[in-house]
Amino acid sequence: MAKEFTNAKMVVDKDFKVSDIDPRIYGSFIEHLGRAVYGGIFEPEHPEADEHGFRQDVLELVKELQVPIVRYPGGNMVSAYNWEDGVGPKEDRPKRLELAWRTIENNQVGTNEFADWAKKAGTDVMMAVNLGTRGIDAARNLLEYTNHPGGTYYSDLRRKHGYEQPHNIKTWCLGNEMDGPWQIGGKTAEEYGRLAYETAKAMKLVDPSIELVSCGSSSSDMPTFPQWEATTLDHTYEFADYVSLHQYYTNYENDTPNFLARSMEMDHFIKTVISTCDYIKAKKRSKKTINLSFDEWNVWFHSTADDEKMEPWQVAPPQLEDVYTFEDAVLVGSLLHTLLKHSDRVKMACMAQLVNVIAPIMTDNGGKVWKQTIFYPYYYTSVYGRGIALDPVVDSPKYDSKDFTDVPYLDTSVVYNEEKEELVVFATNRHMENTLKVDCDIRSFEGFRVIEHVVLENDDPKAVNTANQTNVAPHNKGESHTEGSILHGILPKMSWNMIRLRK
Ligand code: AHR
Repeated sequence: MAKEFTNAKMVVDKDFKVSDIDPRIYGSFIEHLGRAVYGGIFEPEHPEADEHGFRQDVLELVKELQVPIVRYPGGNMVSAYNWEDGVGPKEDRPKRLELAWRTIENNQVGTNEFADWAKKAGTDVMMAVNLGTRGIDAARNLLEYTNHPGGTYYSDLRRKHGYEQPHNIKTWCLGNEMDGPWQIGGKTAEEYGRLAYETAKAMKLVDPSIELVSCGSSSSDMPTFPQWEATTLDHTYEFADYVSLHQYYTNYENDTPNFLARSMEMDHFIKTVISTCDYIKAKKRSKKTINLSFDEWNVWFHSTADDEKMEPWQVAPPQLEDVYTFEDAVLVGSLLHTLLKHSDRVKMACMAQLVNVIAPIMTDNGGKVWKQTIFYPYYYTSVYGRGIALDPVVDSPKYDSKDFTDVPYLDTSVVYNEEKEELVVFATNRHMENTLKVDCDIRSFEGFRVIEHVVLENDDPKAVNTANQTNVAPHNKGESHTEGSILHGILPKMSWNMIRLRK
């Protein structure tokens, strides 16, 4: 059948600046959940394990992604976690019932081991404190343990545990999803607001250089959203630097055009949270602006039915092991456009999660490591999406789907890397049948030519990668080219693309 075309236009200009991109928007997340830690980053019996038990094959892929920050240790798990269980001699560490995921936690990895791993991965740690079953005391003690140089009870305990130098963890989450009825020690907005304020105050007294994330709603679907943000920020505004957003996207109805439009939901969510933060700013007559930490986002739905059948009280069972399809990768690409478009206010974001648990990287225990479909848009955007986010003017034909109206077929984000003198156009074609021809005016980038056009495409929206077969992988044979100041972008049907240009 002959190719059908749809046409779109866009204008990109150096002067249309959104913001310098904070690299931390390419963060990720490792929770003590399923095989993320045990069997994921840590597997001492594995032939690839290093002297600390970390899988080097996994580390290599994490480094490839250039992940700048990793949230730890939860997630839901942190809300009943005693950090003291995970430090000191390993043989003395208790085995606990882990209530969030109903498994056995043997505590063989804890704060110090994770800090070691992060160093090897070349990433920073975003640490969450337990505001479910615990509070001010546990949080300030943990911070003293990780960040104080020495000469006090907890800093000397760290030194006794073999860590002379402090870990200097700069980013801290004040609990996790505290509005969730599933959360151990869940709270009302008033209860959480007060506790988070007092915890934040104590933490900033211990180490004023840290940055704090106040817990936002567990998702925009929560009945208390966005009142939760307004009430809790009213309490935490003085000490918080960010508010968190969490959202997972699903395709239970197997409606691909609708699914591919879900980044519009993310866009709306971000805008609503910005408005709520700024409402509290106005109410307080404050000069300070609260930024956004979208510290859990991804596609998550493939594994939910299996997880419901899981037997409780196993050690590191396979949980939340979504096997991602090609269409999931296309949406992930669009979610990344959305984060970039809001990079003036979204300063941190974490793809949840990193290994095995709803993750771009998968492992077999004792065996291989491989890249899921979603690895690719994450990889390219993280590696090449550094610099200044530009705001392109887009004129694209649109479609309506079950939940969305006026969905542009062309979804795009643009980054200018001044240092490398490189212009990068990330672009998704949401059209299921037609190639999208995009005439892109790059008037302020005189003499720039296409040096690479990477395309992620597949005839089967449900194609997946496995340990033994890579069915979804990008190629760099994209057909885009320039003619004068016009970039002719050729985006195959239902595809995610990265077009790099240089002089
Ligand atoms: O990432 C999986 C879980 O999703 C996290 O533990 C929790 O914070 C969220 O509900």
